[in-house]
Amino acid sequence: MSIKTRFLLSYVGVIIIAITLLLASVFLFSFAITGDVKAIEHFYKKSYVQKPLTTVEENAFLDLKLLAKNNPLQLLDIEQLQKINAPSIETVVRKDHQIVYASQKDHEKLLLKSLPGFEATNINSRDTIMINQAFYTYVKFDFYFPDKSEGSIFVLREVSSHAELTRELLPILLGILFLLFMMIIGLLNYLVSRSIINPITALREGAERIKSGDLDFEITSRSNDEIGQLNRSFEEMRVKLKESVKLQLQYEENRKELLSNISHDLKTPMTSIIGYVEGIKDGVANTEEKMDKYLTTIYTKAKDMDLLIDELFLFSKLDLKKIPFQMESVNLRQYMHDYVEDASFDFIARDIHIQYISAGSALFAMADRDKLRRVLSNLLSNSEKYMDKPYKQVIISLHEQVDDALIQVTDNGMGIDPTALPYIFDRFYRAEPSRNSQTGGSGLGLAIAKQIVLEMGGDIWAKSELTKGTSIFISLKKAEER
Ligand SMILES: Nc1ncnc2c1ncn2[C@@H]1O[C@H](COP(=O)(O)OP(=O)(O)OP(=O)(O)O)[C@@H](O)[C@H]1O
Ligand SMILES: [Mg+2]
Repeated sequence: MSIKTRFLLSYVGVIIIAITLLLASVFLFSFAITGDVKAIEHFYKKSYVQKPLTTVEENAFLDLKLLAKNNPLQLLDIEQLQKINAPSIETVVRKDHQIVYASQKDHEKLLLKSLPGFEATNINSRDTIMINQAFYTYVKFDFYFPDKSEGSIFVLREVSSHAELTRELLPILLGILFLLFMMIIGLLNYLVSRSIINPITALREGAERIKSGDLDFEITSRSNDEIGQLNRSFEEMRVKLKESVKLQLQYEENRKELLSNISHDLKTPMTSIIGYVEGIKDGVANTEEKMDKYLTTIYTKAKDMDLLIDELFLFSKLDLKKIPFQMESVNLRQYMHDYVEDASFDFIARDIHIQYISAGSALFAMADRDKLRRVLSNLLSNSEKYMDKPYKQVIISLHEQVDDALIQVTDNGMGIDPTALPYIFDRFYRAEPSRNSQTGGSGLGLAIAKQIVLEMGGDIWAKSELTKGTSIFISLKKAEER
């Protein structure tokens, strides 16, 4: 059975129970007051239909009835009739379609219209009629005059129009009440459908779609009740699922790309090594000078490959989180000072002006000393590689922030195109169009730097202006002094 049907049945049930209880309590109430089990029935029937008249009126009716049975012609004798009747009793005698006698003269015409017709069987002898906006209850007896004409006698009594109206309108009222109940049931059903059934249907459809692999839809809900919360949780689940599927696809794509990049980057130097070795074998390198050149090239290419394999190895180990990190609280001011001092000998030899700007007290941050060294050397190698100015400058500075220590490495090199900037930390990404440009490199330097910094709980990002220079920022969580 569907929830909708269950709700519908429960409404109907509740309403039926309510009506039953109402009727039962009315019954019990009237029973308690009157002590009569059939009090209600009597109220409705007896007082109006079966006993419409007072005893005096009943007696007058019986007299007239006796007369009608034994000596109907006497009923045409008006004086006789006036004698029988007390003036308070309203009596009517009808012969065929004529009022022969009416104790209240002014009613005569109206009576003809309102009184019920002749009925030889005398089954429906008591009822209520309306004469001139007033309700009358009556008793009637139908008989035949000796000349076979149809005769009727009536004794009428005016009744309270309120009570009569109630009695007449009761079935209509009950009908309206029933209709009202039906409307209430309809309304409740609509409201429940809207607030419960529809969201549940949406959930079911959503689950069906997810089952069939479709995640591109949205379940909206405005209500704040349990169903609304359920729908929102479902929607969150769908979004998460969609993200994870997307991530999965992206991983798959990355894996393929990685494989193809590795193959390409290893293939290129390998091809030239093979070429030069073949040249030597074929005797092309016939002079010592040529031989030396060939061997140097082979050596450089093999070195490149070795470096690339090392980088790849490191990158993949970082990626798999297989490299242990020795995190410690490092005084960055001292550490950076030492690093720059170490590196500056090399840089001076290559005509690069490296400068360290740092002021202030000791600044401690959580880091792995060796790994941080690797990051800095990758950044400095880039600054050197992508340098196009005659005065080559690299400035390293340290800034203290609320929660972090910030290392900034700025060069005055060629800068990075804004369209390339978001991708420079991606593995194998190189901003120049040709991967085999003069600078060389595999595009793993910044990817490795990023892996390391993230693993140390920090962040790394770049700012750059084409032709002017590049700044790389590394933020590390500040730490307590050791
Ligand atoms: N200081 C910089 N100035 C200009 N461009 C830079 C700088 N640093 C990085 N880039 C750009 O970002 C790209 C990615 O740098 P990344 O260090 O990851 O790779 P790579 O230097 O090309 O190769 P690898 O470092 O593996 O030898 C570089 O190819 C270069 O285009
Ligand atoms: Mg690099």
